[in-house]
Amino acid sequence: MSTTEWTTAVFSPTGGCEKVAKAIEPNPSVRRVDLCEHVEPQSVQGVLMAVVPVYGGRVPEVALERLRALRGDGTPAVAVVVYGNRAYEDALLELHTELTANGFKVIAAAAFIAEHSIVRTIAKGRPNEADCAVAAEFGRRVSAKVAAEDMSAICVPGNIPYRERPRIPVTILTLDSCRGCGRCARLCPTGAISPATPDKTDPAKCILCMRCVSVCFRRARLLPPPVVEGMMQRLNLVASEPKQPEIFI
Ligand SMILES: Cc1cc2nc3c(=O)[nH]c(=O)nc-3n(C[C@H](O)[C@H](O)[C@H](O)COP(=O)(O)O)c2cc1C
Repeated sequence: MSTTEWTTAVFSPTGGCEKVAKAIEPNPSVRRVDLCEHVEPQSVQGVLMAVVPVYGGRVPEVALERLRALRGDGTPAVAVVVYGNRAYEDALLELHTELTANGFKVIAAAAFIAEHSIVRTIAKGRPNEADCAVAAEFGRRVSAKVAAEDMSAICVPGNIPYRERPRIPVTILTLDSCRGCGRCARLCPTGAISPATPDKTDPAKCILCMRCVSVCFRRARLLPPPVVEGMMQRLNLVASEPKQPEIFI
């Protein structure tokens, strides 16, 4: 196992990316940067792993913005995208390109599958045991590559120009069972929910990441059921056959 300092930067509103990151990390003592919060500008030593979800075949803009606070100086980096079994399209290339622009040298990359955070029946239970075994082996290979000071570059799939970010014209609903505890407002990665009026969501800031839905103890927040139903029907056609992790090293 490498003794090189390892930093993991994760954007994981509903926990899928977090599970994948943990499965890859070579030991539990890695330094963490939470991209769901503001990130202070800093330079990164050792190796950086960035783990982000795929939204509409792209990396969420807010995750890219916060990643820009992390600067490398030819520092080795690992690009990991996590998607809900439909497709990751241009997201891995976008993450690779972004890390490179921030001064990192991308020496490994991967795409993993996790439960779809909007339609939870899609890829249910992923990452599963087999995914985590692939992730752990990937982490070991990254550590070995870093220890050997092997800085050889990798290529990842994707197209430039990137596909357009789809706009989903939907607002999260709040049920009467909301007691205004403000947990959703505190944990919202984009500040779209005001702590004073947590039953309101600013549609201009909301990226539909589903964090407020998943952290509400009273299950008082949800997407309009017809929207979820429509997505479920579409995803059942294109995302029901289990995809497998892809590794680039
Ligand atoms: C707004 C939004 C868009 C998404 N777009 C895609 C997509 O294009 N392809 C896909 O396979 N999964 C897609 N997903 C599913 C997520 O990529 C997947 O559930 C991921 O694990 C979420 O990460 P998290 O659990 O760390 O929040 C999308 C999810 C959301 C909320």
